[in-house]
Amino acid sequence: MYDGDIASVLITEQQIKDKVAELAKQVDDDYQQGGDLLLVGVLKGAVMFMTDFARALPQPAQLEFMAVSSYGSSTSSSGVVRILKDLDRDIAGKHVVIVEDIIDSGLTLSWLLKNLKARNPASLEVCTLLRKPDAVQVDVPVRYVGFDIPNEFVVGYGLDYAERYRDLPYIGTLDPKVYTSGV
Ligand code: XMP
Ligand code: MG
Repeated sequence: MYDGDIASVLITEQQIKDKVAELAKQVDDDYQQGGDLLLVGVLKGAVMFMTDFARALPQPAQLEFMAVSSYGSSTSSSGVVRILKDLDRDIAGKHVVIVEDIIDSGLTLSWLLKNLKARNPASLEVCTLLRKPDAVQVDVPVRYVGFDIPNEFVVGYGLDYAERYRDLPYIGTLDPKVYTSGV
């Protein structure tokens, strides 16, 4: 699949599986408050992580999705965010965990945290599969992090380049020829 487009595999399918189980166990240990957790997945990138995470989680959780778009180029964000699809329900009084695919500059997440906090959830935490180095410098509280990765553009397991490669079961880097050939 996608022959020759992937320069290297950064995180294998098995490594993802193990990490998802580990994160789910951590979250389960931390939330023993009773009552369903509410997972908020950020479309589209987090969809694979969200569905695997929810199934690995030993306790019941409700699933909500939100789609946002940050203005900027296709490979970086500006922090100016627009809601494309809002949550279907009120989150007031709920224990909410935002499920993210990747945090890069942290601008999108910082906006999202502010937006959701204003809706008065009982608690609000973030679980991200991937985090890039720049994110560490921004003051965004991220409780659960799967992998800290180098500052490279990655695809697979929900992450895309021009809407492709989301369906890869692993996370890899793209061969530079993909950026330059303009598929
Ligand atoms: P910020 O910079 O606001 O951006 O934290 C987060 C969003 O930017 C996208 N993003 C990526 N998408 N491969 C991708 O496919 C990457 O390496 C990458 N880095 C950032 C992504 O949409 C994420 O939610
Ligand atoms: Mg995203």
